[in-house]
Amino acid sequence: MRNLKLSEDHFDLKKINKYATLMTLGNGYMGIRGTHEEDYPIQKRGLFVAGIYNNSSLEDPEELVNLPDVMGMDLEIDGEVFSSLKGKTISYDRTLHMDRGELTKDVVWEREDGLRLQFTFRRLAAKHDVHVLASKVSIESLNRDVSITLRTGIDAQQTNFGRQHVLEDHVQVHDETYMQGTYTTTRSHQTIGLFSTCTYSKSCDVHFFAKNRQLLSESTAALKKNEPFHMEKLNAVYTSIDQKVDRLTEIGLAKVKQLSEEGYERILQQSENAWEDFWQERRIEIHSSNPMDQQAIDFAQYHLEIMAPKHNPNLSVAAKGLTGEGYKGHVFWDAEIFILPYHLYNDPKAAKQLLEYRYNRLPEARERAKANGHEGAQFPWESARTGKEETPAYAAINIKTGERQKVASALAEHHIVADIAYAVLHHYHVTGDEEFMAARGLTMLEETSKFWLSRTSERDGQLHLLNVIGPDEYTEFIDNNAYTNYMAHYVVKQTLQVLDKFNKLDEEFRKSAKDFLNRLYLPKENADQLIPQDDTFLGKPAIDLSKYKKNQGSQSILLDYSRGEVNEMQILKQADVVMLLYLFPDLFSKEVVEKNFSYYEDKTIHDSSLSKAIHSILAMRCDQEELAYQLFQEACLIDLGPNPHSSDEGIHAASLGSIWLAVFSFLNLSFEQEGIKLNPTLPEAWSSFKLPLHYKGREITVEMNQNTLCIEKVGGDPIDMEIGKQHYQLIDHLEIPLHKDNELHKERT
Ligand code: BGC
Repeated sequence: MRNLKLSEDHFDLKKINKYATLMTLGNGYMGIRGTHEEDYPIQKRGLFVAGIYNNSSLEDPEELVNLPDVMGMDLEIDGEVFSSLKGKTISYDRTLHMDRGELTKDVVWEREDGLRLQFTFRRLAAKHDVHVLASKVSIESLNRDVSITLRTGIDAQQTNFGRQHVLEDHVQVHDETYMQGTYTTTRSHQTIGLFSTCTYSKSCDVHFFAKNRQLLSESTAALKKNEPFHMEKLNAVYTSIDQKVDRLTEIGLAKVKQLSEEGYERILQQSENAWEDFWQERRIEIHSSNPMDQQAIDFAQYHLEIMAPKHNPNLSVAAKGLTGEGYKGHVFWDAEIFILPYHLYNDPKAAKQLLEYRYNRLPEARERAKANGHEGAQFPWESARTGKEETPAYAAINIKTGERQKVASALAEHHIVADIAYAVLHHYHVTGDEEFMAARGLTMLEETSKFWLSRTSERDGQLHLLNVIGPDEYTEFIDNNAYTNYMAHYVVKQTLQVLDKFNKLDEEFRKSAKDFLNRLYLPKENADQLIPQDDTFLGKPAIDLSKYKKNQGSQSILLDYSRGEVNEMQILKQADVVMLLYLFPDLFSKEVVEKNFSYYEDKTIHDSSLSKAIHSILAMRCDQEELAYQLFQEACLIDLGPNPHSSDEGIHAASLGSIWLAVFSFLNLSFEQEGIKLNPTLPEAWSSFKLPLHYKGREITVEMNQNTLCIEKVGGDPIDMEIGKQHYQLIDHLEIPLHKDNELHKERT
């Protein structure tokens, strides 16, 4: 496949953790950070299995556990440890091959005494068999005979920012070959079995030892000049989520034995085949004057794929996927509003599973609603294993006062409840999956709607949603956040319709829902055509934000102003009214959308990575193509840009989802009563474009260049299409020339 690569052409200690994140390998079951085999100061290793969480005390929230490491390796050559911090690097290339899910590093290194060695490191997390991690090291001495020693194994010294989460249960070397480490999390009592074996291209002197929570094998070989040496390390990972604990040993050992028979190349081939199928079916192709556009969408698709736990419907996607410890591996609204749509239009089963994760946690959501004096179900702002609220009570410490700042989101960022219901409806509209709706969706809709009905306060005969936090977290505890009110209204309205359609609407609920819909206050545009973000927002002073906008993503405003002060100004962390406009394109007139987009963009710092691409979509809808493209490119740089620390603690999963959302939204697709409306407006720099999408059992590919728009369909019934005001029926293939006098073309020029 063309150019599906992300490379680093020199060793850079400053960027070591950023690249460890970007070059993560994974398969939805687990993620392994792209750290170097050899150790470096500040390098943060990471192996995460979806669903393995623990907390170190009752007061702490659960966090995704950084598991014992199997990738680290000491390489000693004639008694001296290899490190890029010493000697001279003659050549260097580290590449994430997204086409086959492999990370490689090729280095020619010269020691201070002139000894030259060539190293090749390769590794993969198998796509065809999610329990498998494999690596291969090749070493060749280029100018003299040497002795090499490799030390590697299973290292349980890993922590989450210093917190130790696992106890060593059982450590053993079987048949003087297969290493086993079995661990149990201290409070959640989940068990993890790691199994490793090393094979060598020539006989080595091998011995094993266990100490200080490490089980290591040490192998020594004598190498002749120009005689390549290879070591393969093959690993299997199983946990109590997927296996009975008393069978872990048997299953893990059988797997590593099988792996050592197959060997690295064969494992790679099978994994590569699975990746090839993925890219063949799902790759978006963009021919742009800026090649970064293709790379950014490839990168987004790669990561969206490796973070998706498709093997288990009881798991969801964390804010950092499986790439780092950031946000403690918690699941936010990011999953339903920014990530789920990608799967919905590419692999609807994966989208459904994300909803099942929430469905399975309805009991905790009901309990939480009750505890807070509400009805129905109140999903937590941050969720992990159990479905309980996992938002940390306190965030960063103010080092001047020594006081910790409270995190307010758990108390009032209630829009998550509507976001989840919105995703249930979105799934239904795009898949038409009546079975899921009947079995799970209806309950989710009814319970979340009941939450909203009970969440209101009455004032002068109208219903209000008081004391909330909208998506803009720089404005806390306000009344009638436009995004929240409109979302709640939409969800309750749709719930009524769907319950009715499925004959499940009971009279009492109908009455109270109708009353809610009639009386809920929905902020309208004022005389200046502005939709107030909340009851007081537009009355607050505005300041010049250019300094902070230049530093976006860093939250530098909080160095100059306290949270309380920021709260009293017109300052947005991220899209809020703009988020509302994005989700509901027909709610307001184009004029109102334009007015609000420019007003609110001006006041948005984009300190959250969830903001930029959504603004890009809005800019495109407002015919500001140049700005849309600029915002799109800036969104692409959130992870891939030059900031050396932007992704140290993990990938920006929602941002990657929103990069896809932007590309998808440029097609201007809408689905109406079984028909599809399409009106693409692509950035000027894109000369051609291809995007696959799934809609109600049909696989559709939209392809466009300057002269033609082509739409292919495989599977499902023919479908009506409205393209640039013309009507067509898509049976299997449509080809529309883009003439100068054609509506579509006019809209593009
Ligand atoms: C954003 C939230 C987001 C969370 C996790 C926060 O900084 O404000 O909207 O859900 O990060 O990505």
